[in-house]
Amino acid sequence: MGFQNQLFIFCTLLLGFLKLADGKTRHYTFNIDSHNMTRLCHTRSVLSVNKQVPGPPLVAREGDRVLIKVKNHVANNVTIHWHGVRQLGTGWADGPAYVTQCPIQTNQSFTYNFTLTGQRGTLLWHAHISWLRSSIYGPIIILPRRNESYPFEKPYKEVPIMFGEWFNADPEAVIAEALQTGGGPNVSDAYTINGLPGPLYNCSSKDTFKLKVKPGKTYLLRLINAALNDELFFSIANHTVTVVEADAVYVKPFSTDSLLITPGQTMNVLLKTKPDFPNSTFLMEAWPYFTGLGTFDNSTVAGILEYQRPTSSNYPSLKKLPPYKPTLPLMNSTAFVTNFTRQLRSLANAKFPANVPQKVDRKFYFTVGLGTMPCPKNTTCQGPNGTKFAASINNMSFVLPSIALLQAHFSGQSNGVYTTDFPANPPVQFNYTGTPPNNTMVTNATKTVQLAYNTSVEVVLQDTTILGAESHSLHLHGFNFFIVGQGFGNYDSNKDPAKFNLVDPVERNTFGVPAGGWAAIRFLADNPGVWFMHCHLDVHTSWGLRMAWVVLDGPQPNQKLPPPPSDLPKC
Ligand code: C2O
Ligand code: CU
Repeated sequence: MGFQNQLFIFCTLLLGFLKLADGKTRHYTFNIDSHNMTRLCHTRSVLSVNKQVPGPPLVAREGDRVLIKVKNHVANNVTIHWHGVRQLGTGWADGPAYVTQCPIQTNQSFTYNFTLTGQRGTLLWHAHISWLRSSIYGPIIILPRRNESYPFEKPYKEVPIMFGEWFNADPEAVIAEALQTGGGPNVSDAYTINGLPGPLYNCSSKDTFKLKVKPGKTYLLRLINAALNDELFFSIANHTVTVVEADAVYVKPFSTDSLLITPGQTMNVLLKTKPDFPNSTFLMEAWPYFTGLGTFDNSTVAGILEYQRPTSSNYPSLKKLPPYKPTLPLMNSTAFVTNFTRQLRSLANAKFPANVPQKVDRKFYFTVGLGTMPCPKNTTCQGPNGTKFAASINNMSFVLPSIALLQAHFSGQSNGVYTTDFPANPPVQFNYTGTPPNNTMVTNATKTVQLAYNTSVEVVLQDTTILGAESHSLHLHGFNFFIVGQGFGNYDSNKDPAKFNLVDPVERNTFGVPAGGWAAIRFLADNPGVWFMHCHLDVHTSWGLRMAWVVLDGPQPNQKLPPPPSDLPKC
């Protein structure tokens, strides 16, 4: 899609924002199609929603019901996940394939039906099967109720900025090959802003996102990281931004020159434009934060911030000067990441309280990281020392079943589909951030944790150094969690809890576990259903860094998972 088209869509979106009424039901139709797309002078067929990449934004107000009819016109099985939407009482609409539903098959359709309860801000939707989300993704914009305002200056305009990844090859072929050979997948060829790689790539300058602004105004940028495998740094030359929201929860505002956004995360920032017309344009850039071993896409996506001059003669047109470039943190700058994430705090005021669980019913200590699987006989594998790459939580590499976990749970037929003995602690203790053990083989299984309704849960996520310390973008479906603590090295259950922030920790659905460190999260299991938790770096998900929580019904009628919708796809 050309720049003009993109511009049109975003302008329509901006105008649409202002007029929405409250408490409505909003209907959308998502046609899963394929169309040709050209980036970096490579043309290939991409799968998309309504032939757009990014796809159409879902725009609604807090409290609205949304119905999205998804019609699958392609050969691939598809599901859509509404990333970060709490899905209170609507677990059937969550969307991860083989977790809450069987996929929508060719020529079939399914209507996702849910209400946006107690949330306002930016989220994203994306395909949730294999790597289809590489091109099937779009923004979710939840405006405050009509009579409510933002807890910050009213922006002059709102602009979604969606980061993605472009592969010259078909991403489905890329992951299929990697899973077959056991090696690491080929990395992407470009990052994109709203689908556009920008001028720093070969054959790409015509595909540049341009943000035209007026001086002296406040813009709300709705940042979304929909990249498959890369945490990203973002910065706008000669401008600072004020972070006001993360994962559709308001935060204490703070200003920064650069920021980190990991896959699955969203962040609203205010951009105040300069009071007068500057005699130049400014690049906004993103490049990866990378801590692992192996290769990664180390390229830079750029868009342009341009002050739009009136055509009248009072403002001589811009001299052709090169644009200002931002200075991004170094690609391995864990120091920047630590400092940045420490600044994210919940508002925690009377209107927007931080309901941090103060008591914990069940504690879990989960290692997250890479590992290996044996190479099948008579084949050669390209993973470490001739093995296949794997990834795990507590050494369990999660195998997706062939029917959906939620269906098995609801019908009381979990036998042979999943077990509920997911280990609460690492099965083998070792120095998780020291020299790795000799045996790095994972166990393949479909194990879950079963939780009684309203259990207060604490999970310490511990990165391991098996095949290299690496930051993991951990995402939990169905809940927000509070990040009550984090640190480097091994978590110390005697000393570290004393340092937990139980007052104003940030509340999110996706969080980067520090490379070679740990993060402690808490959530209240107040939502019956089966909820996926996984690394949002898709390659790690594909390798098995995923598990599921089965949250049982509560005693009251409104604490029970209702029966499945009649059009729920069959496997
Ligand atoms: Cu955004 Cu399970 O994913
Ligand atoms: Cu990961």
